[in-house]
Amino acid sequence: MLRCEASGAAFPARIQVAAHVVESQIEAHRPFGGVVPEIAARDHLTRLDPIVRAAMEQAGIDASALSEIAVTLGPGLIGALMVGVLYGRGMALGLGIPLHGINHVDAHLAPTLLIESFSPVRDVGTWLQVTPPEFPALALTVSGGHCQMSLLRSPVERRILGKTRDDACGESFDKVAKLLGLPYPGGPEIEVLARQARGGRFQFPMKLGPSLGPYEFSYSGLKTAVLDEVRKLAPGSSWRLSAAALADELKAELAHAFQEAAIGQLCLRLENALAGEAASVRSVLVAGGVAANAVFRTRLAEAAGSLPVRFAPLSLCSDNATMIGMQAYFQSADGWIQHPFPRYPESSETGFPERPA
Ligand code: KG4
Ligand code: ZN
Repeated sequence: MLRCEASGAAFPARIQVAAHVVESQIEAHRPFGGVVPEIAARDHLTRLDPIVRAAMEQAGIDASALSEIAVTLGPGLIGALMVGVLYGRGMALGLGIPLHGINHVDAHLAPTLLIESFSPVRDVGTWLQVTPPEFPALALTVSGGHCQMSLLRSPVERRILGKTRDDACGESFDKVAKLLGLPYPGGPEIEVLARQARGGRFQFPMKLGPSLGPYEFSYSGLKTAVLDEVRKLAPGSSWRLSAAALADELKAELAHAFQEAAIGQLCLRLENALAGEAASVRSVLVAGGVAANAVFRTRLAEAAGSLPVRFAPLSLCSDNATMIGMQAYFQSADGWIQHPFPRYPESSETGFPERPA
């Protein structure tokens, strides 16, 4: 839940995260090694109302004090999205206040546009000075569902340079972790395991072939390369190939080599953009679940050279409602109240999007 000072300006002067309640479904999905759409939707149904009430309690207000509601419109799993949108619509209708439909991938970047740090323990309920980044900015959004690079002229004017052709980066972390017998979500598990490796034992491809554009991503080939290596190391395994029984050192080496290639690809694509379409940017913004990875943070800051790099605060990297509220500020200040259900206009590949009146 967000309070903003100087509403209406392109940037608020200060913001206050009045409540920050993050409910995780990880335990419900863990036995399956990935997100199960039906479980996600049903969990939303039962947990949404208590979470909203908890947020209002944390902020010390009741619903009548709310002035706007923001809800994720997409992209995402349709069942979970429908639960959220219908709940938001009902609440907005009942309270007679506007409802903003928010694009989830855009919202991941919103914290990087406002603040440099945020601690849920220290900062909830305090006013935080807003420090906008320098524009134009090159933005990288790397999550479990999305991997995309875009150019930002302002918080609401963006052009997508490239997306993944197949899997998202975080998804490949999750799939490789599953292959190694690690629990879901795999990203943090791979990061920890990779720290135990000496490195150099395996090497997986980080350069992509010429069939992809210079700013596009692809993770299916990397996943297959890890699978092929595991097939060699675990002979006689059935169609349900798993590296779980391999020696711990071997698993650590595999995790390390995979992480190097996955992160290497992101850095190479960033370098391509900085030498090409994004040559004149004045800052780099990085967000999404994978941005929590410490090796990624270090490597990407190196790849950006002398440009200032702003990562989403750790507590706002993975999915959270605070980033949705932050994105709502920008859309609202821009006069862009997107009512669910019309389709969210995708940023075009050729120019900044035309925003609805
Ligand atoms: O942004 P997010 O919470 O959800 C989506 O919108 O997809 O991202 C979740 C993804 C998962 O794939 C998870 O494995 C990955 O982010 N992730 C990480 C790390 N922490 C989370 N990947 C690599 N290293 C991490 N430390
Ligand atoms: Zn996300």
